[in-house]
Amino acid sequence: MPDLTDAAWAALLGIGGQGAGASATAVPGLLRRRGGCWEIHPGAPAGCRDLLSLYLPLVAAGPDACWAVGHLGQSLNGCIATRDGESRSATCSVTGQENILHLHRMRALCDAVLVGAGTIAHDDPRLTTRLVPGPNPVRVVLDPRRRLAHDHLVFRDPMAPTLVCVGDDEQRPPLGPAELLAVPWDADGLRLDLLMEALAARGLRRLFIEGGGVTVSRLFNAGCLTRLQITLAPLLIGRGRPGLDLPRAERLADALRLRPRIYRMGADLLYDLDLNAVPEGGEGERKPCKIGLERLL
Ligand SMILES: NC(=O)c1ccc[n+]([C@@H]2O[C@H](COP(=O)([O-])OP(=O)(O)OC[C@H]3O[C@@H](n4cnc5c(N)ncnc54)[C@H](OP(=O)(O)O)[C@@H]3O)[C@@H](O)[C@H]2O)c1
Repeated sequence: MPDLTDAAWAALLGIGGQGAGASATAVPGLLRRRGGCWEIHPGAPAGCRDLLSLYLPLVAAGPDACWAVGHLGQSLNGCIATRDGESRSATCSVTGQENILHLHRMRALCDAVLVGAGTIAHDDPRLTTRLVPGPNPVRVVLDPRRRLAHDHLVFRDPMAPTLVCVGDDEQRPPLGPAELLAVPWDADGLRLDLLMEALAARGLRRLFIEGGGVTVSRLFNAGCLTRLQITLAPLLIGRGRPGLDLPRAERLADALRLRPRIYRMGADLLYDLDLNAVPEGGEGERKPCKIGLERLL
């Protein structure tokens, strides 16, 4: 049912304020507004329900909401790329086409898509929404020491502005059209709390962190993510690059057990994890996310 899926996607863009002439009106048979909240119409066809339920919590928070969603696509043995850093080629990628479509949808729903310098160096992505209707987000690249050459696509492709986050001791002028954002250092790298504040001050409050493992892990460990999305692909990568890198848990009881929402994407499974929800089995001790808590669903 392509038409209904298109209608559902257009409605989501409208609710999030990203559609052309965006309006947040109910869509008969798909979405309705009750008690000031959006909900999926009980009669919505199964083919649209997953689409609506996955993205509604993000768009329903509105255009002024603050959220930061990290995504990693990984093999069953927890790798996001081969040891040499290959996560996609002309013929294959870690996750399948439906998950790639999801990445483009997430880009369309955020104000900025953020990646680390390693992802630009290895994958040379464009980070645009060319597979789905919706606006291109601002591209944010963490390149604290400016190791990236300026011929990467995010610096050449004119479809969206690119902001490069550098250490505040960096003196060199910008190369090409990308703007520089100077961020103070701490012992672990750039001060991520100050980075988030600086992005929010520019109106970049809804962030999609698309990789790689180092960048998502650092944001997770700093308590800067509101959601984590892990897509598991039926793939085994021998001695590859790890995904999340977390501090050691001394006891199994210290492990963080989250309540997932699980979505099938072709042969892959997406785990969508709300990091502010009470963990499975108790109050838990995870620090709440530091950004815009009161605005989150
Ligand atoms: N499967 C997937 O979902 C997926 C997604 C994206 C990428 N990938 C793959 O993952 C690999 C790249 O990932 P990666 O983990 O190696 O690198 P990455 O996260 O893309 O980039 C890491 C680099 O970004 C900079 N950085 C990130 N956070 C920082 C912070 N808080 N403070 C200062 N600098 C920070 C640092 O640059 P400096 O090193 O210059 O200090 C750091 O080494 C590639 O092989 C790519 O193909 C896979």
